[in-house]
Amino acid sequence: MREWSGDTVTGLTSHAADIRDAKRVLEVVQEARPEWIVLAAAYTDVDGCESKPELAFAANRDGAVNVAAAAKQVGARLVFLSSDYVFDGKKTTPYETGEARNPQSVYGRTKAEAEIRLLELMPDCCIARTSWLFGVGGKCFPDTILKLAASRPALDVVNDQRGSPTYAEDLARAIIQLCRKNATGIVHATNAGDCTWFEFAEEIVKSSGLATTVRPVSSQQMARPAPRPAYSVLSPARLRTLGIEMPSWHDALRRYLEQRQRMS
Ligand SMILES: NC(=O)c1ccc[n+]([C@@H]2O[C@H](COP(=O)([O-])OP(=O)(O)OC[C@H]3O[C@@H](n4cnc5c(N)ncnc54)[C@H](OP(=O)(O)O)[C@@H]3O)[C@@H](O)[C@H]2O)c1
Repeated sequence: MREWSGDTVTGLTSHAADIRDAKRVLEVVQEARPEWIVLAAAYTDVDGCESKPELAFAANRDGAVNVAAAAKQVGARLVFLSSDYVFDGKKTTPYETGEARNPQSVYGRTKAEAEIRLLELMPDCCIARTSWLFGVGGKCFPDTILKLAASRPALDVVNDQRGSPTYAEDLARAIIQLCRKNATGIVHATNAGDCTWFEFAEEIVKSSGLATTVRPVSSQQMARPAPRPAYSVLSPARLRTLGIEMPSWHDALRRYLEQRQRMS
């Protein structure tokens, strides 16, 4: 909402429309009559999805179908936010957009099934897969690390999951361009470069001038209910064919830290 200018943009919260409610979704879409709908809403608690699969599929897959059906009814285009977790993480080179999905978690399955259903229902929709989002004003990895680092001499962070941290502001700019360029199909939209969570945490602590030691640990040592892909770097090749380039995650982190400082 902050990034978009020059167009009329309506922001809808879960209170305005629960995407599981097809009738309500159609009502709000008919009222707004948008040219584009950006669907970012989802049940994003990856571990919660393991214990609440019904809620996860109802929101992430069926809710997305409800929004796509409403978009179709009013002739709106759709950008659907999807995830690197649709892949199994067994590769060691970046995933291209056309590679086979093989999600390992309930959350990943909900997103993979949503993608398939949306492409059937609305072949010209745009699916923007992203990863490891962070941004000001909400709970995110850098914010958690900084809060913990302020009170602890050492932090343990997993060093066997590799991905691309992505600044919400940069993703928002990419989404706006996708709409302006009438993009269709699957695109990967992440900040450039990759790292492990440990390397990301080290950079956050170092860039903030904190003395906290960051120690690498394995995913096994920090067991979580949902499995995470060991490698989920997404290739920007398709995004580049659309003339869209995203900055490096190092640059994005620097801007995030400046913005966080300004807002504190
Ligand atoms: N975070 C990541 O690292 C990441 C990575 C890859 C892809 N993505 C995707 O990017 C998108 C944004 O992620 P995020 O991390 O910014 O999400 P988030 O902070 O968890 O926000 C999700 C939003 O969806 C709303 N929502 C949840 N269930 C809903 C429902 N049934 N009806 C209507 N609204 C509902 C929530 O509203 P309430 O707060 O009111 O419940 C919340 O405002 C999601 O589609 C996510 O799957 C995220």
